[in-house]
Amino acid sequence: MDLLAATSNPHKLDELRAIFAPLGVRVLGLSEIPGGPFPEPVEDGATFEANARIKAVAYAAMTGRVCLADDSGLEVDALGGAPGVHSAYYGGTAGGRSERDARNNARLLRELDGVPAERRTARFVCCMCVADPSGGVLAESRGTYEGRIGTGPRGENGFGYDPLLILPDGRSSAELSEAEKNSMSHRGAAARLIGPRVVSLLSGG
Ligand code: IMP
Repeated sequence: MDLLAATSNPHKLDELRAIFAPLGVRVLGLSEIPGGPFPEPVEDGATFEANARIKAVAYAAMTGRVCLADDSGLEVDALGGAPGVHSAYYGGTAGGRSERDARNNARLLRELDGVPAERRTARFVCCMCVADPSGGVLAESRGTYEGRIGTGPRGENGFGYDPLLILPDGRSSAELSEAEKNSMSHRGAAARLIGPRVVSLLSGG
């Protein structure tokens, strides 16, 4: 069974592939679908749920396929939930993915300068939405991944803010293997919730 995942983020795609593989679902990225490149819809929703829906509905219509979208980001309690839906561009829009990640992390550390460890609680949130080509929302889910923001980057794995999220066991999210991260992460949790529905939809249910 093939499932189109509406993301151009290669790290997200790798994680989604590993998470859905045990369900017998092969995840395809947008670059593997004929007819591209597909224009990016404007993600102007106020919530992760709204943005996941915008992406799933838009790419399902453009590709003519059932499509899963993942909208995710970081909520930091001491910053009133920021960067939230602005996580991807918190440090500005210029440059490639790795430059933006570095600037996002630098800004986050600046904003939390002087905030003590006990007030640095945070979580990654992932909202998934599956839509069909006629604009119908078929399934939705949400997963979270709790930790606190460290005082400097640690670890080489993962992407985005992973080097800054310190887990309850003291490791950063970037110090986990991909399989460990998927077993604990917001994306893994959201996928496990939506997985059975995806399998039923793809097998005609
Ligand atoms: P999206 O592509 O609009 O969903 O933006 C997601 C942004 O949130 C990414 O660019 C990262 O900055 C951050 N993010 C989402 N999931 C993760 C994760 O698993 N690890 C680290 N950062 C993440």
